[in-house]
Amino acid sequence: MLGDVLLDRGIENNLSHAPAEVFEVWRNRESIEIEAAIIFKQLGRDLQTLYGKDDLTALLSLKSSDDELRHARRCQEILSFNDKKDYPAFTPDFKIQFGPQYLTDKQRVLYMSLGVCCITETLSTALLIEMHERAFSGIIRDTIHEILVDEVDHARIGWAELNRQAQNENISWLKEYLPTLVKEAFSSDIAPMLKPNQDLSIWGILSPKDARPIMEETLEKVIYPGLEKYGIL
Ligand SMILES: [Fe+2]
Ligand SMILES: [Fe+2]
Repeated sequence: MLGDVLLDRGIENNLSHAPAEVFEVWRNRESIEIEAAIIFKQLGRDLQTLYGKDDLTALLSLKSSDDELRHARRCQEILSFNDKKDYPAFTPDFKIQFGPQYLTDKQRVLYMSLGVCCITETLSTALLIEMHERAFSGIIRDTIHEILVDEVDHARIGWAELNRQAQNENISWLKEYLPTLVKEAFSSDIAPMLKPNQDLSIWGILSPKDARPIMEETLEKVIYPGLEKYGIL
């Protein structure tokens, strides 16, 4: 037990000597977590408008918003080890607009569910498993584990909403947006967490070279087969 404590302290001391890129990436994650908190709150409220305030998927989405804020706080704890830098306050974009203007409210909820939950959160889960595998024990590994456990639930919200809407209507119209949503998930939510050219995996950071096959496999074996059932492929 005492050994664990001493070991953790050693690793946390190491964290204060981590390369600057490590903090850059965790800072990117912090801002992505805050944006995700805003998006899940918006999705939760939209789901309540459509299905009532006690709707379980809506409540899960609102809970996910709290999870994302907690993830952001964990990132801030990691950032606090970087005593060389004061981080300016992050100003999230409160007017996140999902999908084309002409979508109905119900279609927009589905579009968000697909992009945010089924695609982004599922890809994130797969990458976090690999990050967890490679990270040092201590604050980095614990943080990754905490985020990973929640991401699984966040992804489920999307599949639940797709399933609900597919009971009464054809949702294959989403197919046309799939390539854009996959591209957006990568450029806005995944690429800022990757770093090429040096191995930072002990700090919970993968390179694009490591991440690409994991993402391709997750798309091919998990996401696309799930979407195929609804004609979204
Ligand atoms: Fe998160
Ligand atoms: Fe999440």
